[in-house]
Order: sequence, then C-alpha cells, then structure tokens
Amino acid sequence: MLIGKPPDIPSSEITSRDAHLRFLNRRRFLKGAAAAGVAALAADRLGQLISPRTTVRAGTKLQTVPSPLTTTGEQLTSYADITHYNNFYEFGVDKGDPSKNAGGLPTRPWTVKVDGKVVKPLTFDIDTLLKLRPLEDRVYRHRCVEAWSMVIPWVGYSLSEFIKQCNPLPSANYVQFLSYYDRHVEKWAGQDPGISWPYSEGLRMDEAMHPLTLLTFGLYGETLPNQDGAPVRIVVPWKYGFKSAKSIVTVRFSDKQPPTTWNDQASDEYGFYSNVNPNVDRVPWSQKTERRIGLPFYQQNRTTLMFNGYTDQVASLYAGMDLRKNY
Ligand code: MTE
Repeated sequence: MLIGKPPDIPSSEITSRDAHLRFLNRRRFLKGAAAAGVAALAADRLGQLISPRTTVRAGTKLQTVPSPLTTTGEQLTSYADITHYNNFYEFGVDKGDPSKNAGGLPTRPWTVKVDGKVVKPLTFDIDTLLKLRPLEDRVYRHRCVEAWSMVIPWVGYSLSEFIKQCNPLPSANYVQFLSYYDRHVEKWAGQDPGISWPYSEGLRMDEAMHPLTLLTFGLYGETLPNQDGAPVRIVVPWKYGFKSAKSIVTVRFSDKQPPTTWNDQASDEYGFYSNVNPNVDRVPWSQKTERRIGLPFYQQNRTTLMFNGYTDQVASLYAGMDLRKNY
C-alpha cells in the first residue's frame, strides 16, 4: 500500500513550520509513489493483454445461501484480479506480492480469541465459526484509499451474529481486530519499517453491529485464498479497505477507541472512521474518483459515492457528526 509515510516523520512533528516543509516533502514522496503505482498497474494490464493471467482456484467450495443485503447491478471483478491485486503488507508491499508469498500462512488449525470487555474470554475454532450461521453470498463494492475499487462476491455472515456469541459487557464501546503475525512466516512485514505488528483495526460497537459488516470466510463461493485474508477477515463495505483486517486471530472489546495500524502511522491522514467520502481528500489523492480494477481503460474511471454507495443503510450511524473532523 502506498499510504505509509517515510519513517523519519512522526505525525506528532507536523506542527511547526519546519515540520510543515517536511510534510510537503512527504506529499511529494507519496505523489511519486502514486505515479509509480499507476505506471505499475498500466504495465500489469499490458502484460495481461500480451499473456493473460490464468488462475486456478485453490479454495474449498462453501455451501451458501443468497442474501438480501447483496449489492446488485454491478459487474463483478474477476477472481484473477481479486486474488492478484492485493494489499497484505505482512507478505510484501507490491500488489502482486501477497499472491506469491502468502502460501505459508498456516490456516489450519486456526482459532479466534475473544477478550477484553466480555463476560468471559472465549476461543472459537475456525470450523465452529464456519457453522455458526448460514454462509451468505454478499456482493459488495470494495474501495481502497489508494483510489482503486473492485466489486467482490464475498461469503460470510453479519459480524453481529458472532458478537452476540461473545457476550460483550455494556462498557464495550469498541471492537478491535488483530491479524495473525509471525515474523518467520511473514518475513516481508519489515519492508515498511514504520508499521508495528500485528495489523490492528477497529470499529465503534454500533458499526460492528451493523448488518452490512461482514465476518468473511470466502469469495466466489469458495474459502478465502491466503492473500485475501484466509481463513477469516472483516469486510466493512462503506469504509476504505484498510479498515477490513485480514486473517484475524483476536477480537478485543474495549471501552476506549483502540489503536489502529494506519491511524497510528499518520493520524492526520487516516482517521479512525475512514468512511469512504469523496468530499474529504486524503494525501496525496483526491477521493472524488476511483479506478475500477479489471475494466477496459476507457471504463475504469468512476465517481466515488459517499459511504461507497451505502448511504441509505449507514448514514444514520453518523447523524450529527462532522465527517470532516471525524474522517
Ligand atoms: N489486513 C492485514 N492484516 N494487513 C494488511 O496489509 N491491508 C488492508 C486491508 N487489510 C491489510 C489488511 C488494505 S490497505 C486493504 S485495501 C485491504 O485489506 C485489501 O484487501 P484485498 O487485498 O482483499 O483487496
């Protein structure tokens, strides 16, 4: 992902005039990185035209049911693009790295630990989680803060169904998700020296309980490939993609807002909420438009929608809040 900042600029320093100059330098650095990203994508698409990517699916078929919460009317992004254009920094910083490097992620046995503000700490085995509720096919738009997007047919059930099994205390105002981290398996994690592991993300309790927030086990009707966050990840379709933590091993309930990876990196740029919002720019990109991955060049560019198009369902969560301040 290109949203990291050079390690020599702690966000706490961006106050003085001197620090402001360094901030402008960072903008230049990131603009260069963005241009490099676009060039890399163009080269990738050209490469595909010359020698198209063939992807053998390695997932296990999941038994699924249709969902009334699915997004209709949009062309699905191909399985090949969803599984070869990834952000999973533990396995490298380039989009093609996770599909090359994540093969060693040990997805069985796998447990998810629940702790913090709960009646009693619990541990769930992945096979128990897979059977907890019927697995639904849910197509969602997926919008990264790097201004690219996809349309992905996920498989899972509402996170709220899982949270009900966790018995959170009334003081549980937030939920934190921690990803698997083993530096022997995820040898590439050090490539962005600014990040402290494990990857952490979080939601306010009402966001976590919203029916659209998906505890996700698969895509295209099969178990998640490792590079997409096997065996279980979160998907929050109205937020930038970095809010959707992959390969989760701990769910922690807390009374206070938990620390989160990209917010810790650059809190002035990547807010805790990070709702998709075309009216609030993020360095170095305007968020007004996005590139839909996999479409022909002349169809890729599209207008970004408030809350990624899920306004009717989620706007009430933020009633009365200034979304420029709470970005
Ligand atoms: N989770 C972990 N553990 N590590 C990561 O680097 N990247 C995030 C998010 N979850 C990330 C992560 C970002 S920036 C995005 S855009 C999405 O995963 C990408 O999901 P995808 O590769 O399935 O499209």
